[in-house]
Amino acid sequence: MWRPETLCASHPDPWKGAELARSRPRPATIVSVANQKGGVAKTTSVASLGAAFAELGKRVLLVDLDAQACLTFSLGVDPDAVEGSINEVLLGRASVADVRVECEDGVDLVPSVIDLAGAEAQLLPRPGREYILRGVLEEVRADYDVILLDCSPSLGVLTLNALTASQGLVIPMPCEMLSHRGVGQLLDTVADVKKILNKDLAVWGILPTLFDGRSNHAQEVLADVGDRYGLPVLEPPIPKTVRFAEAPAVGRSILATSRTSKGAKAYRDVATALVRKL
Ligand SMILES: Nc1ncnc2c1ncn2[C@@H]1O[C@H](COP(=O)(O)OP(=O)(O)OP(=O)(O)O)[C@@H](O)[C@H]1O
Ligand SMILES: [Mg+2]
Repeated sequence: MWRPETLCASHPDPWKGAELARSRPRPATIVSVANQKGGVAKTTSVASLGAAFAELGKRVLLVDLDAQACLTFSLGVDPDAVEGSINEVLLGRASVADVRVECEDGVDLVPSVIDLAGAEAQLLPRPGREYILRGVLEEVRADYDVILLDCSPSLGVLTLNALTASQGLVIPMPCEMLSHRGVGQLLDTVADVKKILNKDLAVWGILPTLFDGRSNHAQEVLADVGDRYGLPVLEPPIPKTVRFAEAPAVGRSILATSRTSKGAKAYRDVATALVRKL
């Protein structure tokens, strides 16, 4: 390739600059996994997509934003034994780098603890309370390709923090009629967040979960859901299988405990489809 022999010191080498920009990893894409309805497979999706992104060679951070600490438990971390948690981070007493733990699934985790419920109350009177998570994640964004946020089943201040910090939102939704309830309210909240707090937030899509392919009803719900909300439906749907109940008991995701199961394959396929957005 032709290169100029001499370059003026005050004008940096444009070729070198372009090479550096290519080799320097982009800061992580932050993705909320949220639905204020309980038990829709938010935590299962964060653990499984996280492991799938790690298998694809991505550097992954998972953040447990739920005082139930289910993600923390399910990745084999005892919330009572950790040095610190998201609680201290949000209250400004520790940094993400201080409290993150390496998990066997090839991902890092910011654990949660039951005190998080108290932290939420302490955040409420603070000015700019919705921006706190965005600020603390900024410090580690360069260390990762993707940061997945496991939200609690509420639209409280922690979920608003997650949506304010994120570029993407994945909405897990079981393929049952009543599961639709609440999605409209979540999308209203997303519209407000985009208007007021974070214009960069994009809904990546609805992730159909707990899908029973033999049920006509589940098929009908799947066919209807995208049109109803005008949103992309991520594919393939995640099948309902008992393997998901077994995985957290050994502190690993289904991708490790049941490598070839249909559920593991479905999450790998969803992650492969999403990886180009990172
Ligand atoms: N595809 C699946 N097949 C069968 N069981 C599943 C599947 N996905 C999740 N589950 C089970 O459903 C239950 C709820 O899942 P999970 O905890 O991931 O939901 P959640 O939305 O995070 O719940 P919460 O709102 O309480 O945080 C768990 O017992 C989990 O093992
Ligand atoms: Mg959960």
